[in-house]
Amino acid sequence: MARSRGEKEDCYDKSTGLIKLLQVLSFLVVFVVGVVIGLATSAHINRHFDAQTEIYSFINHFSSSKETPHQQGEPSCTVAQSCERIDCLSMETFLEPNNLTHGMTDNELFWRASMVPAKKEYPYQRVPKVAFMFMTRGPLPLMPLWERFFQGHDKLFSVYVHVVPGYKLNASTTSPFYRRQIPSQPVSWGTITLIDAERRLLANALLDFSNECFVLLSESCIPVYNFPTVYKYLIGANYSFVESYDDPGRYGRGRYSRKMLPDIQLYQWRKGSQWFELSRTLAALIVSEVQYYTVFSKYCLPACYPDEHYMPTYFNMFHGSLNSNRTVTWVDWSLGGPHPATYGGDNITEDFIRSIRNNGALCQYNAEMTSICYLFARKFAPTALEPLLELASSVMEF
Ligand SMILES: *[C@@H]1O[C@H](CO)[C@@H](O)[C@H](O)[C@H]1NC(C)=O
Ligand SMILES: *[C@@H]1O[C@H](CO)[C@@H](O)[C@H](O)[C@H]1NC(C)=O
Ligand SMILES: *[C@@H]1O[C@H](CO)[C@@H](O)[C@H](O)[C@H]1NC(C)=O
Ligand SMILES: *[C@@H]1O[C@H](CO)[C@@H](O)[C@H](O)[C@H]1NC(C)=O
Ligand SMILES: *[C@@H]1O[C@H](CO)[C@@H](O)[C@H](O)[C@H]1NC(C)=O
Repeated sequence: MARSRGEKEDCYDKSTGLIKLLQVLSFLVVFVVGVVIGLATSAHINRHFDAQTEIYSFINHFSSSKETPHQQGEPSCTVAQSCERIDCLSMETFLEPNNLTHGMTDNELFWRASMVPAKKEYPYQRVPKVAFMFMTRGPLPLMPLWERFFQGHDKLFSVYVHVVPGYKLNASTTSPFYRRQIPSQPVSWGTITLIDAERRLLANALLDFSNECFVLLSESCIPVYNFPTVYKYLIGANYSFVESYDDPGRYGRGRYSRKMLPDIQLYQWRKGSQWFELSRTLAALIVSEVQYYTVFSKYCLPACYPDEHYMPTYFNMFHGSLNSNRTVTWVDWSLGGPHPATYGGDNITEDFIRSIRNNGALCQYNAEMTSICYLFARKFAPTALEPLLELASSVMEF
């Protein structure tokens, strides 16, 4: 027992001596090698680089390969350079997506469009734009009139067109309508799919951070004032223009369903024209809203039409203070029946257009009264195009 213990101790003593010797030797070797490397490197650096770039070049020297000899002032930071060429996080495409043909689903699109910056100051010179959103079944026969209206005001507006899927809008490369078609879905008039299309237009337009006002238009709409007047009127307004009124008759309250309780009470129910103008704030709310959209999709079925009740009711319930409760799109219901009057070539006269621009009535605008109540009008047939173009400069001033 003792012997074995002694051997062990002896053995232990011998090995500790060896280890100590090795440690001293390795320290010496490391020290000498270190001194040599240090001297060689500092000499190299001193020969080639000045003091300011010393650390940078030293790192650079060791990261660059032997095949490409290092040259002064040309750091080989390949990762940073390739990212710079592609611009992985370009502000330009973030602020104003120029390719409207995206592959997002409605769900993805509405989520992106619902984002509102928490920081109020923009990091760029933001010139507010008006988004003109056209909901059409196909061609835009009055496009030449609109092209004339837009001419010369490039940075102040943007155009979005919702068509039937598969239809390709024919616009020349210089037209403001060129490549402004958004990914569209089928729409059945009078159903919730109409609200879906409106939300799709709003969401695509919201992706452009300069859009401040959002106007819904159809293929039979025309402008009745020139662009500067329309722009000033909409951008300067304290309120949005969503018609919202209480109609006690069968076409108003008559379309309310008690199944909408407890979300919507009868006294909150409102009616209004589909053709709206929204501020950016209200547009973002509409693409984000789920609860009342769901109620309307379930219980507002013909003869209830969601496009005439969803926004008027929702804004009345929650955002009445931001709404003027009137529309800026003129229409003629005087003939009666389910559809408004359509005006063709024979009906277009100077007096008629002047009467839409100013019929003697006054409308509230911010804190004042104004004779300009309507900026747009419907419905106009394709045959109205030529006479309207003839009147454009003398009556509509564009
Ligand atoms: C736009 O984006 C789509 C899908 O992301 C792509 O297929 C198309 O080529 C793009 N168009 C242009 C003109 O870049
Ligand atoms: C497209 O429009 C051009 C004029 O802008 C016209 O010449 C051409 O016939 C149109 N094409 C179709 C398919 O309508
Ligand atoms: C409407 O806007 C004008 C000018 O932008 C402002 O002076 C006025 O106080 C606003 N009125 C309301 C009711 O917000
Ligand atoms: C519009 O209606 C709301 C109620 O929905 C009301 O609070 C608001 O004052 C009205 N707006 C104007 C400009 O009268
Ligand atoms: C348009 O003109 C035609 C032909 O003169 C007329 O029959 C029609 O009633 C007019 N339409 C409207 C809405 O005034």
